Amino acid sequence: MSPHRGDASERTNHKPNGNEAMSDTRTLAIIKPDAFGSGKAGKIIDRLESDGFRILAARVVHLSRAGAEAFYDVHRGKPFFASLVDFMTSGPVLAMPLEREDAVTRLREVIGATDPADADTGTVRALYGEGKERNAIHASDSPDNARVEVAFFFAGVDLA
Ligand code: CMP
Repeated sequence: MSPHRGDASERTNHKPNGNEAMSDTRTLAIIKPDAFGSGKAGKIIDRLESDGFRILAARVVHLSRAGAEAFYDVHRGKPFFASLVDFMTSGPVLAMPLEREDAVTRLREVIGATDPADADTGTVRALYGEGKERNAIHASDSPDNARVEVAFFFAGVDLA
């Protein structure tokens, strides 16, 4: 069964060659339901492109509960897991594989700390996040996870 609504997620013939993980040139950003639903996507994309990120693909997805649980499987069992899944299924998200040098490291710098209250001035979460959960954007935390997370949303897509 597909974790998503819609049929694009049915594509399963993605064959990552591993180069993107080894070289840290690709990462996954997700503009979350709070920011996407309040029309902040354009401003966030502008911020990312200004920092040299190239958008390789983009997809608006309304995650199913099973899809959000699978994506955040590493957090299963944590006190905030159910609430996180509720939030991530509350509306559409915009998922984008991004490319630039040191992509994973740099994107995490640009988005700022998980809690917008702790995020550096000018970071995406400081600008657009409302709280630890409604924090506007997700970014992969390692090159290996970036490869898995890009495949989660873009399996079978020939990235530009
Ligand atoms: P994200 O980068 O998407 O990865 C996991 C998410 O869990 C994180 O952003 C937050 O939105 C959420 N999260 C992490 N810690 C907490 C917490 N203590 N309370 C609520 N949500 C959290």
